Amino acid sequence: MPKVSDRIEQLREQIREHEYRYYVLDQPVVSDYEFDQLLRELQRLEQENPSLITADSPTQRVGGEPAKEFPTHQFSRPMLSLENAYSEEELHDWGRRVVQLAETDAVDYVVELKIDGLSVALIYENGLLTKGVTRGDGRTGEVVTGNVRTIRSIPLRLSEDVSVEIRGEIFLGLKAFRQLNDEREQAGEPRFANPRNSAAGSLRQLDPSMAAKRPLAFYGYSILPTRPFQSENLKWITDLGLKVNPHRKLCHSLQEIIDFCRHWEEHRDDLDYEIDGVVVKVNSIELQERLGSTSKSPRWAIAVKFKARQATTKLLDIRVQVGRTGALTPVAVLEPVQLGGTTIRNATLHNEDEIERLGVQINDRVLLERGGDVIPKIMSVVEQAADRRPFEMPSQCPVCGSEVYREQGEAVRRCLSQTCPAKLKESLLHWASRKAMKIDGLGERLVDQLVEKDLVRDVSELYSLTQEQLEGLERMGTKSAANLLKEIDASRSLEFWRLLFGLGIRHVGERTAQILAKHFRSIERLEKASQEELEQVHEVGPKLAESIYKFLKQPENRELIKRLRDARLPMKSETVEDEQPEQIFAGKTFVLTGTLDGMTREEATALIEQRGGRVSSSVSKKTSFVLAGRDPGSKLEKARDLGVQILDEQAFRAML
Ligand code: IVH
Repeated sequence: MPKVSDRIEQLREQIREHEYRYYVLDQPVVSDYEFDQLLRELQRLEQENPSLITADSPTQRVGGEPAKEFPTHQFSRPMLSLENAYSEEELHDWGRRVVQLAETDAVDYVVELKIDGLSVALIYENGLLTKGVTRGDGRTGEVVTGNVRTIRSIPLRLSEDVSVEIRGEIFLGLKAFRQLNDEREQAGEPRFANPRNSAAGSLRQLDPSMAAKRPLAFYGYSILPTRPFQSENLKWITDLGLKVNPHRKLCHSLQEIIDFCRHWEEHRDDLDYEIDGVVVKVNSIELQERLGSTSKSPRWAIAVKFKARQATTKLLDIRVQVGRTGALTPVAVLEPVQLGGTTIRNATLHNEDEIERLGVQINDRVLLERGGDVIPKIMSVVEQAADRRPFEMPSQCPVCGSEVYREQGEAVRRCLSQTCPAKLKESLLHWASRKAMKIDGLGERLVDQLVEKDLVRDVSELYSLTQEQLEGLERMGTKSAANLLKEIDASRSLEFWRLLFGLGIRHVGERTAQILAKHFRSIERLEKASQEELEQVHEVGPKLAESIYKFLKQPENRELIKRLRDARLPMKSETVEDEQPEQIFAGKTFVLTGTLDGMTREEATALIEQRGGRVSSSVSKKTSFVLAGRDPGSKLEKARDLGVQILDEQAFRAML
């Protein structure tokens, strides 16, 4: 029998290697499932032998207690910022100065992409990550080690036992950023304006388990102590096990630098992160030292800034939309304009305070800017129109006419009417969405008709719709009406947490709904819970607890729940399976072919979807697995050609 401590060490080494391959090299050699098995075994062994837990163990990423506030750290060398060059001309001026001071024109430069994120310093002692510090004011930073430790591409232990300080940029990729914003919107929270803000917000989260939910990334760009050349420093950072942006180049002339800048200004949209320019650095550290720094920035580096994706256009009108939570949002209607490859017709104005801050009126010319979000922002007024007219936020709901309220300390007005058709339409769509009750056939067009014809006045009434009523609607044949009824009926047998999410309680996203369902197990118990009891639940903070409590206390919501109960919707977590299984297939796509012996295709699909996977009908390079049963079709051949992993039923079951 091998010693437990040996097995633990072996697991840690394997896990570190896989994490490095997955998060740093992007070349995993095991499936997420296999990886999780290793991690779980390690967790179990550590739980059984707590004395063997070490701070650098891969299980220790999510820190324990949230910090009350961040302690500070004095940098041994200040974290400087960079001078900007806004044109090739300015870059040339800088280059001339460098050459002059260097007294030679044979200067080499390293060019790197300038990611719009947050700079941090990672302090490693004898190979162990001991501190993660934000830039702060450049001399003193905030210690955010707990949150930095949640970033998977930052190793807790380097490949060498050295003491170094690695600096670099923490950022949120665009895909993750848009997803985060969509989730916030669904939970009735405001969208982040750009990835930088959302990354900053995550990094300064007091609770590391919250930061862990945002997939932040890190690229290193400097290291102390230094090697003789910047190019060697970058290589060393990767050797130590961290990521460095692969789009970098050693240049021997200004022209090469300019070509690099032009290329990336044109191709910036091909990247999954926001860049706002290129950083040019003198490669020789000896020369860097001779050139020196001002109190703010080094003379040996410069940031060549790209032109912002901006455009000006006319503000034709401001319309007010009413969301599911009743929030009134002003939306700018613009004269269509091209911006970074897309035609822009609308922009968000967030709320009335924003309109006031901008001092914008209808008919003015405005400056638009597109950051990481697809929805652009109005930055300022460039020209006041002679015929400008001020916009006033309505005091009545533009859809149902009831009075709107602005709560103290809130920037938005809300329509509080329970019967507002705009709110009702949004809540029906939310109820039917994939993450809630999965009623695919219930789209916008149909919801509009159901509400306008007064066939449905709340979500519970979906369950008493008849074939006859549906057939009377536009674009509804006998068959599609029957299908829709089938889908509506099928939603009765879904998990309880979906209903909780579907109710659209403010701030209750999909994950919170799952946590609540798991903890309370039934709507009765949830309805009885006090605000304090709700706050006791792991991951439920005071704001969330208050929102849930208030929602469940409102008589009209209680009545709605009663009607849903009468309509035979799931009101409790029936079985253990009712809790959402681990998302082992998150991000994976399956294709099914042939006949399975132990389950129907529908069952297999459900098993995959419950675990976060997707089922697609055709095989492509993006397919993760082909699940092949008896008498498989041509899909199997295609999978073989493309090198897609093929599973038989037994292997699939083993994964579950
Ligand atoms: S070098 C003294 N390299 O840009 C050198 N900075 O104002 C200072 N940044 O705060 C940093 N990518 O957050 C450097 N490849 C890169 C960078 C980079 C992004 C950020 C960094 C810094 C700001 C410069």
